[in-house]
Amino acid sequence: MNDLNPTNYPVLDVIKQRYSAYQFADKPVEAEKLHSLFEAARWAASSFNEQPWRFIVATKDNPAAYEKALGCLAEANQGWAQAAPVLVLTAVKHTFTYNDSPNRVALHDLGQAAANMALQAADLGLVIHQMAGIEQDKVVSTYNLPDGFTAETAIAIGYPGDSLNDAESKARQRKAFDEFVFGDKWAKASGLF
Ligand SMILES: Cc1cc2nc3c(=O)[nH]c(=O)nc-3n(C[C@H](O)[C@H](O)[C@H](O)COP(=O)(O)O)c2cc1C
Repeated sequence: MNDLNPTNYPVLDVIKQRYSAYQFADKPVEAEKLHSLFEAARWAASSFNEQPWRFIVATKDNPAAYEKALGCLAEANQGWAQAAPVLVLTAVKHTFTYNDSPNRVALHDLGQAAANMALQAADLGLVIHQMAGIEQDKVVSTYNLPDGFTAETAIAIGYPGDSLNDAESKARQRKAFDEFVFGDKWAKASGLF
């Protein structure tokens, strides 16, 4: 984050550093760093400790596997994401294992795991970019996802490319606190800010 994206209040450095990169350096990501990213995801909180997230990972070291994953992204995302040396596809399990009942917070928990990964990446000098723009059915058929699982997002991972030309150089928009933190009535400012 640069001066164009100041925070109003102090936050962790990794929160300031994280941004969704469109440019990636032509450089592989070391296995140890990928281990740390998935370790960070692994330790996310989840309802009933279900850990409903699943990840499919592909690196450019294995071109066939990489192309297979890249082909599951929406075309618009393939354009820039193919510069990333690592692609991850995400999926979730929609029922709790302990009683087979629906897990209405499975996506929430995937989001927590992805956020952990994003902040760990920032700490390691990596950039990531999450994508909703994937072909969900293609992920299901390409990787034979079992019943009860859906394909959800993709994540491009790498080292920063030309960050001056990247999202870092643009003023990133955020809502004002009173637009999303409410007090004793819906949409009423909390008075905290
Ligand atoms: C779940 C999710 C899905 C997203 N989908 C896409 C996408 O398909 N294509 C894209 O270019 N960016 C996508 N983004 C990136 C957002 O546009 C980006 O996070 C947002 O503009 C805020 O910018 P920042 O991440 O740099 O703070 C997605 C982000 C998230 C968290």
